[in-house]
Amino acid sequence: MNRVLEAAPALDSPAYLYDLPALDQHVAAVRRALPGVELYYAVKANPDAELLRVLAGHVDGFEVSSAGEHAHVTGLLPGVRVALGGPGKTDAELRLPHHRIHVESPNELRRLLATGLEADVLLRINPDLPVEGAALTMSGPFGMDEAGVAECLPLFGERVRLRGLHAHLASGLQAPQLLELAGKLLDNDYEEVNLGGGMAVSYTAPGDRFDWAAYGAGLEGIGRGRRLRIEPGRALTAYCGSYVTRVVDVKRVRGEAYAILLGGTHHLRTPVTKGHDQPFTILPTGDGPGVSDEPITFVGQLCTPKDVFARNIVTSARVGDTVVFEMAGAYAWNISHHDFLMHPKPAFHYLRA
Ligand SMILES: Cc1ncc(COP(=O)(O)O)c(C=O)c1O
Repeated sequence: MNRVLEAAPALDSPAYLYDLPALDQHVAAVRRALPGVELYYAVKANPDAELLRVLAGHVDGFEVSSAGEHAHVTGLLPGVRVALGGPGKTDAELRLPHHRIHVESPNELRRLLATGLEADVLLRINPDLPVEGAALTMSGPFGMDEAGVAECLPLFGERVRLRGLHAHLASGLQAPQLLELAGKLLDNDYEEVNLGGGMAVSYTAPGDRFDWAAYGAGLEGIGRGRRLRIEPGRALTAYCGSYVTRVVDVKRVRGEAYAILLGGTHHLRTPVTKGHDQPFTILPTGDGPGVSDEPITFVGQLCTPKDVFARNIVTSARVGDTVVFEMAGAYAWNISHHDFLMHPKPAFHYLRA
C-alpha cells in the first residue's frame, strides 16, 4: 500500500493530503527530461505554500496571473523569477516587478508604457492554429491575433523591451500534439518563446502520464538557438494531492445506490468542472450499513444534484469507510466554492521525506 493510503484512515477528514516527496521526485524527473528548456510552474494550478517550496527546488521560475499570486509567491520565495500573465491586468498589476510580463493586447502595452517603468515583454499570441483533441482551448479573448501583434511592434523601445512570444493554446495535449504546435509557434525569428502549459493529465487512466522525455527530446530538436520556456501547472502537481473523506450515509433511492461523503465538491470541484469521475480508492474502515459490488454514485453534503464526485462506479461502500480521491493536487481546493453551505473547511496534511 502506498504512503497516502496508509496515512489516510488516521486523518481527521475531510482533508487534503499532499505527498511532498512524490512531488519532489516527479518534478525532478520532468526537469531532467527538458535539457535547455526553462521550466516555470503555473501557480494557478495550486498555490499551496508547501508545494511551491518543493517546486522552487527544481523550476526556473513561476508564472503568476494576478497581484494576489504575485504577492504570495514573491513573499514566500524572495528573489524568485516570476512571469506575470493574465488577461485584464490592472494598472497596479502592470507596475509589479517581473522577469517577464506577458502582454495580452495593444492597449495593455500602451498602459504598460504609461507606467514609465522598465519591462521585459513577451507578446501573448492567439494564432489561428487548429488544436485537435484538447480538453480546453484557450482561444477567444486570450492574447492577440496577427493584427494585434503588428500594432504592438512599433511601440517597443529601450525601456519596454520586446523579448519574444508567449502562447498557451490549450489544455490536455499529448507530447506529439504539443510538439507539432511548438513547430508552428517557432516558425518566426523571435529569440525567446514561452510555449505555455497544457500537458495532458488523464483522470480515467491515471497511470498514463505525459511523455516528458519525448517532449524534451522534440523541443531540443526544434528549439535550437532559441530561448524556450514552458509553464505547466496540472501535469506537475495533479498527482501529489489526495482528498480524503468518509462515508457518512449509504442509501438506495429508486433502486440507485448512493454513498454520501463528508465534504463535497465545495472542497474538490475538479470532477464538476471537468465532468469526470474523480479516481478514488475505498479503504474498508467502516462497520456501518453498506452496499456491495454494484454501481454506486458518490456524492457530497451539498444541497445540489451537481455535488457528485463519481457516478455509477461498481464497488462496495459502508458507512465509516475512508474514501481517498486521487489526483487532487491541481485545480482542486483552490478552484472550489468553499463557503457554499458553510460546512467546515478541510484540514491540510503533508507527507514528508
Ligand atoms: C497562461 C497559462 N499558462 C499556463 C497554464 C497552465 O496550464 P496547465 O495547468 O494545463 O498546464 C494556464 C492554464 O490555464 C494558463 O492560462
